[in-house]
Amino acid sequence: MTTGTPDFRDSGLRFPDTFIFGAATAAYQIEGAVHEAGRGPSIWDTFSHSPGNVLGGDTGDVADDHFHRLEEDLDLIASLGLDAYRFSIAWPRIQPSGRGPANEAGLEFYGRLVDGLVARGIKPIATLYHWDLPQALEDEGGWRNRRTAYAFADYARIVGRALGDRVHTWTTLNEPWCSAYLGYGSGEHAPGRQSALEAFTAVHHLNLAHGLGVLALREVVPASARMSITLNLHVVRGEAEAARRLDAMGNRAFTWPLLKGVYPADLLADTRTVTDWSFVCPGDLEIVNQPLDVLGVNYYSTSLVRESAASEAQPAGDGASAWPGTGDIEWLEQAGPRTEMGWNVDPSGLVELLESLRDEFPGLALMVTENGAAYTDVVSDNGSSVHDYDRIDFLRRHFTAAHRALESGVNLIGFFVWSLMDNFEWAYGYSKRFGIVRVDYETLERTPKDSALWYKDLIAGRRIP
Ligand code: FCB
Repeated sequence: MTTGTPDFRDSGLRFPDTFIFGAATAAYQIEGAVHEAGRGPSIWDTFSHSPGNVLGGDTGDVADDHFHRLEEDLDLIASLGLDAYRFSIAWPRIQPSGRGPANEAGLEFYGRLVDGLVARGIKPIATLYHWDLPQALEDEGGWRNRRTAYAFADYARIVGRALGDRVHTWTTLNEPWCSAYLGYGSGEHAPGRQSALEAFTAVHHLNLAHGLGVLALREVVPASARMSITLNLHVVRGEAEAARRLDAMGNRAFTWPLLKGVYPADLLADTRTVTDWSFVCPGDLEIVNQPLDVLGVNYYSTSLVRESAASEAQPAGDGASAWPGTGDIEWLEQAGPRTEMGWNVDPSGLVELLESLRDEFPGLALMVTENGAAYTDVVSDNGSSVHDYDRIDFLRRHFTAAHRALESGVNLIGFFVWSLMDNFEWAYGYSKRFGIVRVDYETLERTPKDSALWYKDLIAGRRIP
């Protein structure tokens, strides 16, 4: 039974000593230095440099200049007392054209990052793919092309061999839903393509890349290394049939092949006018279905839907949509506060999500690999502080939710705040600030916000302040 305040604003709740408190970032969002040390272009370089794709024409060319400020950022991470740091490795730094021998300068950079974390007693949690596909691979079809999954395995092997002895947890992919449906369906993300068929094809090739990646890592990393993938699962509420369809396309298209070795029959039926899924070759699902040590879950908000008689069903074929063929589903306004992204704040959705995973996949260890909020921060006291009470409130409510999940028997082993610092928020550029540390984009100076100090307190006491 869970107790506590109905609005999740609890304090004093204690977390187990072994609970992993961390913060997360991703390569393209923070590193900058896009032309340095042999890095090749990624799809996000191409996409952000094409007018109209990113708000304000922002690009990741400089971002937080983390590439040049590694030591300073390592000290910053340590100063917050984090148990773990979740970062991603830029594939085009390791293989500038997506294939072939390793670029030693790229490996050297991540070697310094991992060593720097370990030296400070912080667990490195490495994501191999957080959306920055080498452009050369996109030129061969990107995730529409099955060969990209095999190229990913080669890349995973190179990185595993170099860093495998020091990385605590390997995450193959971050949010393949976004890579497939925003990258190839709606076109809101790189590479900006808009095709239902391509989106479903990408879903499968990403799942396949995960399986091949785990197999490749297992060949070269110590048995103690943990394997994971991070999914952005959708908490869909409302009319049952509409929710079922979105759950199939958005959630079970990943969780079932990954954890059960099958694609859901209802997904195949729902999408039959677009594809017969013949891009799934014999043996693929056995490859996809690798044992996972932990499932990463990114959670921000919920959705409320119903089937609408009014709007025309979207043509089942091509047409820009992150949810192909669901033009007859209406997304309803939700009550409650919103973040700067317009996302509704609802910590009960996190409990619901974690409990449903507990029920569907009993025993599976879960980790919240992203949760956080963008707000308009105001800098005060001559630039020395940011009193981001709204972000503290958001985090308090979601840590409370995580604690309730723990109490109800969810095997939740960690929680990572998105993000360590303000950064390039994809199609929104630098207009949205998710950091618990402020970055001044003129001077690149880092200033811990009040939320960072609050989090530091939480970690030090293992309890919500
Ligand atoms: C997630 C991404 C992450 C960040 C947050 C706000 O979808 O994984 O890079 O942009 O959203």
